[in-house]
Amino acid sequence: NAAPAVLPSLLLCDFGDLKGEVAKLHDAGARVLHLDVMDGHFVPNMTYAMPIVEGLRRHTDMPLDVHLMISDPLKYAKPMVDAGADMLTFHVEAVRNAAETADLIRQMGVNVGVALNPETPLASLRECLADIDMVLVMSVEAGFGGQKFNPIALEKLRTLRSEFPDLLLEIDGGIDATTIGPARAAGCDLFVVGSAIFKKHDYNSAIKALTDEIAA
Ligand code: DX5
Ligand code: ZN
Repeated sequence: NAAPAVLPSLLLCDFGDLKGEVAKLHDAGARVLHLDVMDGHFVPNMTYAMPIVEGLRRHTDMPLDVHLMISDPLKYAKPMVDAGADMLTFHVEAVRNAAETADLIRQMGVNVGVALNPETPLASLRECLADIDMVLVMSVEAGFGGQKFNPIALEKLRTLRSEFPDLLLEIDGGIDATTIGPARAAGCDLFVVGSAIFKKHDYNSAIKALTDEIAA
């Protein structure tokens, strides 16, 4: 399985200085960036889309893990791939046929993840699990940074990990130095972090505090 990693979420960063933020995150040890794309429809909040992804692509070689919180992921998947996404994750709640959606995205040449909100049962993933690289287990309702961690995510991670030893598992929402350890213990590989990095001045010590908690 993948080595555990902390993925900074570019939601609470300084968008006036994206290039500087990316450099600081890389210096602090980040090796993958998590990009939160929201459309004001699937979730009430709006963020950014292809032009920002494309701009980031020009300034870093780090893989871009794009979390699509949008109502029509297939409509924007190819533009996102062209903009430089390496992994595209769509929400199972947003699509009619998750297996087909995953398949179509995979044909665009990227890795595919499927996300599910805290209220969404694991059973909703049944028919697509064979077609995906990663499950993104949301530990907050998608839409905003800075929300409180919902432990229902730990239960889902444990179930997925026991049934699918090789599946990549990611968690997103309310991850900090106290919640990251339990998520790791539940079998998670990738830990998306917003507030616990960007509300700190020193990204180095913030990321180190998190990686220390998940070191084997
Ligand atoms: C929530 C986003 C998350 C969020 C995480 O909809 O998908 O990536 O930015 O932020 P924190 O760590 O503050 O919960
Ligand atoms: Zn996210």
